[in-house]
Amino acid sequence: MKQTQLFPSEKTQLPHDVTLFFRRWLSNPLQMGSIVPSSAKLGELIAKQIDKNSNSLVLELGAGTGAITRSLIKSGIAPGRIAMVEIVPEMADHLQTKFPGTKVLQADAFNLPKSLLQKTGLEVGTVICGIPLVLLGEEKQRQFIQQVEAVAPGRGFLLYTYCITSPLPYHTLNLEAQRLAWTPKNFPPASVWHYRPKT
Ligand SMILES: C[S@@+](CC[C@H](N)C(=O)[O-])C[C@H]1O[C@@H](n2cnc3c(N)ncnc32)[C@H](O)[C@@H]1O
Repeated sequence: MKQTQLFPSEKTQLPHDVTLFFRRWLSNPLQMGSIVPSSAKLGELIAKQIDKNSNSLVLELGAGTGAITRSLIKSGIAPGRIAMVEIVPEMADHLQTKFPGTKVLQADAFNLPKSLLQKTGLEVGTVICGIPLVLLGEEKQRQFIQQVEAVAPGRGFLLYTYCITSPLPYHTLNLEAQRLAWTPKNFPPASVWHYRPKT
């Protein structure tokens, strides 16, 4: 049986994603945090955490080439529920072309354009972080948490990471932490954590 392709140009875009990602890594390794895009398996694990029946916004911070986004859409999340923030203009343009119907903001996640997010008219339900927070200092990590709190109070965020233990010092940051999933089917093997403010 012929399988319907969700993204018609997926096969031809994948090598482009890899080269775009690698090029960005060469230019700024700390901003990228990895040499290659995330795997579909990691995307599936993240998508599983999201309520498909809700109409709330899924906000992806540091969406890169959209490997996680692709899994979100494949899992049944409507593109209109997805907003992405990506700091690199070339990647933001690529995301907007690749995922029609989603909202892409070319911006710094540490200075979130809240008014633009409000324009979606949806409440933020889930925040996914692809930014390698582990490579940043505690002050920057606190700043990130504040930004998330401002748009999704009390909800916290999902963070994928290649660390074996928690990538964030959550006690110090006054967060609750839970490791939700792990997969060896990613390079490097990755975990999904949920952090949220201590109640
Ligand atoms: C680990 S990569 C994302 C990987 C993505 N899942 C993929 O497979 O392509 C991290 C992304 O975060 C972006 N990024 C880093 N710092 C950022 C910031 N302050 N604001 C927004 N995006 C940022 C990088 O440009 C990069 O695209």
